[in-house]
Amino acid sequence: MAQSLQTFHTFSLPSQCLHLCEITDTKQLQQQLFSVPFCILGEGSNTVFLNDYQGTVIKMATKGISLTPRENDYLLEVAAGENWHKLVTYTLDHDMPGLENLALIPGTVGAAPVQNIGAYGVELAKYIEYVEYFDIAQKQVIRLSKVECQFGYRDSIFKHALKNKVVITQVGLCLPKQWQPELSYGPLQKLSKVTAKAVYEQVITTRNSKLPDPYVLANAGSFFKNPIIPNSQLHALLKSHSQLPHYFYDDAHHKIAAGWLIEQAGLKGHRIAGIEVYEQQALVLVNHGNSQGGDLVAMIKHIQQQVWQRYQIHLHHEVRLMADSDECNINLQEQP
Ligand code: FAD
Ligand code: EPU
Repeated sequence: MAQSLQTFHTFSLPSQCLHLCEITDTKQLQQQLFSVPFCILGEGSNTVFLNDYQGTVIKMATKGISLTPRENDYLLEVAAGENWHKLVTYTLDHDMPGLENLALIPGTVGAAPVQNIGAYGVELAKYIEYVEYFDIAQKQVIRLSKVECQFGYRDSIFKHALKNKVVITQVGLCLPKQWQPELSYGPLQKLSKVTAKAVYEQVITTRNSKLPDPYVLANAGSFFKNPIIPNSQLHALLKSHSQLPHYFYDDAHHKIAAGWLIEQAGLKGHRIAGIEVYEQQALVLVNHGNSQGGDLVAMIKHIQQQVWQRYQIHLHHEVRLMADSDECNINLQEQP
């Protein structure tokens, strides 16, 4: 029976799927048909359903946290359907610091490795011991080590070789007993007393000042990835745009701030139907309602065009866009 998806994704466009199936026990996956098209969903905070989805949405809602203290660290084994922020809070309440910089990121634990969630100087990969998944073709559970997950900036094997082939069922996290705070991000350097709880609270305050609560004002977080560009291109850009925020990525590349590019292109507050470039953070698109998938696609193309014209930089959307029966990518021709 058709099921509305509007409350199942935080961008909240009106959409439906043919079937919605909730997984509360991983054993259900053995019986699941996985007839095409299907898609796996957590809390829908990085997924936008552009229009009606002609298939089955499989929502991961399994629960459970198991904790094993070891000599030098704690091993946490967490079910895919657990809420990420609740897990971060649980670890701090139990004196296991490490995840505090990743507080308040919406979504499930199972989705966290897919794009290797990151914020305020920390990426999930730092704490991953393993990721366990149900292999849809082989109908068996497989464990990948951190290295096998091929984590990168907003990237992992789950977006490439294993895309649409697996359901992540459990994540193993390793939190060292020896805590080393990560304070490289501006507001964290001003803390008078450095404790994990203080970092956690500062991260929450900073996030609340920039990012809209998706359950109050529909959004999907940063809409585009921060571009990673060769050093030569950065140096050329800095000649005409000396304020461009940039961060070391590797010896040959820097990451630049897409939010700055969008703001400088004059797009803050730009609106198409109910979709708007957020005033407090130009990398975020918000949906005030009365919008359709086509309005969002028009907005994405407009931003990509404006940024390309000004800087010859292509913005890739970070958010996963679902069309009628599959994921889709919106990319302008990179050649002018
Ligand atoms: P969904 O949107 O439900 O799914 C995301 C993708 O993962 C989909 O492709 C889906 O098919 C796949 N997937 C989900 N669960 C599974 C599973 N069990 N097995 C296999 N595949 C699966 N992200 C950051 O990295 N850093 C941030 O600071 C950040 N801030 C945000 C702030 C806001 C206000 C919002 C709305 C989003 C933000 N995000 C951020 C993005 C989002 O929170 C993360 O991507 C999060 O991990 C998504 O979790 P989810 O359960 O909602 O995933
Ligand atoms: N900036 C502007 N104008 C804007 C927005 C940003 O000039 O409208 C500038 C800021 O002044 C700053 C720089 O751009 O100099 C970076 O901005 P910010 O620190 O807010 O972070 P971001 O690069 O926009 C990234 C992540 C966020 C993550 C924060 C904090 C991506 C795509 N986004 O945003 O992740 O929370 O850093 O670490 O990497 C998400 O993925 O959904 C997300 C919210």
